[in-house]
Amino acid sequence: MRILGIETSCDETALSILECSGELSNPKFEIIDSVLLSQAKLHTPYGGVYPNLAKREHLKNLPILFEEMIKRHDMKEIDAIAVTQGPGLEPALWTGITFGKDLAEKYSKPLIPANHMEGHIISVLLGREAHINFPAIALLISGGHTQLVEVKSWGEYRVIGDTRDDAVGEAFDKVARIMGLPYPGGPEISKLAEEARSKKLEATNHPLPRPMLHSKDLDFSFSGLKTAVLYLVQKLGTLDETTKCLIAREFEDSVTEVIVTKTKKALEEIGANSLIVGGGVISNIHIRKELENLAESEGVSIYLPTTEASTDNALMIAAAGYISHLQNRTSETDFKAIGNLKL
Ligand code: KG4
Ligand code: ZN
Repeated sequence: MRILGIETSCDETALSILECSGELSNPKFEIIDSVLLSQAKLHTPYGGVYPNLAKREHLKNLPILFEEMIKRHDMKEIDAIAVTQGPGLEPALWTGITFGKDLAEKYSKPLIPANHMEGHIISVLLGREAHINFPAIALLISGGHTQLVEVKSWGEYRVIGDTRDDAVGEAFDKVARIMGLPYPGGPEISKLAEEARSKKLEATNHPLPRPMLHSKDLDFSFSGLKTAVLYLVQKLGTLDETTKCLIAREFEDSVTEVIVTKTKKALEEIGANSLIVGGGVISNIHIRKELENLAESEGVSIYLPTTEASTDNALMIAAAGYISHLQNRTSETDFKAIGNLKL
């Protein structure tokens, strides 16, 4: 079946068409089309996503993207429409849901509510075929989320670890802001950290904490780490390039150590056969490399999304909609946006 996906949970407006086939035990996806407009640059002056601006931009961009995509296709090819119900910013989510409801009515198509986090998990099946050996652990690291999820099979999830405050991408963004770097801060911090590594600069003068590294649970906390960077920057005064690189490296090392340690614990507790990673933070080269090393030493297969599929997109929403359809999850046409929708 061919699904039109709609994503508006944060600062990307995206539409897609995905050909979905196979059963719940082995779903397959073929990318037909995908269009996206990122608002990230517009939010730069706010140092994060500004909900009402996001809403206004989605409202403006959705018809533009739809018109662009529909030039290449016919709504007759589409069997269903899937739209992000949550989690995300409610004013932003509503724009996609209302747009989806209007399309569904106009073209008489079923409308499927999709969970954004399920989208990030299934994003590893986009642009490639993979038969994942369950149980798996999914590590979801993005600007809005930091979760460890037990995946028993497609559609069967249990959140076993979560952040108590900031998400990991959010911590990157906030630390970047403290250091006077633009939003989104992840790529900026990671560039500086790589520079420190390539120049063999050691961060020993500026040690930062590893929050909750030894806690018994699988939860995370990044807000204290961000505050530690703030105090350090205040103490040091003006930062020269080398100091910036050192702080970035120490921050990235701290985040990586905590993520890798908790993921290892999760893999072992569940006896997982596979590690799935989703979310925009996986663009981080250091985190990616360390997770690949972890998978190798634990003897599990690792599945990472392509760059296109790792950041927010509508292909993963169409894919999550397909899983939902296969499971016959209740699909009232009159559903609401749920900002804190759970898996
Ligand atoms: O998944 P995503 O596109 O959007 C959300 O659902 O939040 O993730 C965006 C987040 C931002 O916080 C951004 O700073 C972070 O991913 N990010 C990175 C890197 N590239 C993007 N964080 C660390 N290192 C990177 N290279
Ligand atoms: Zn996301």
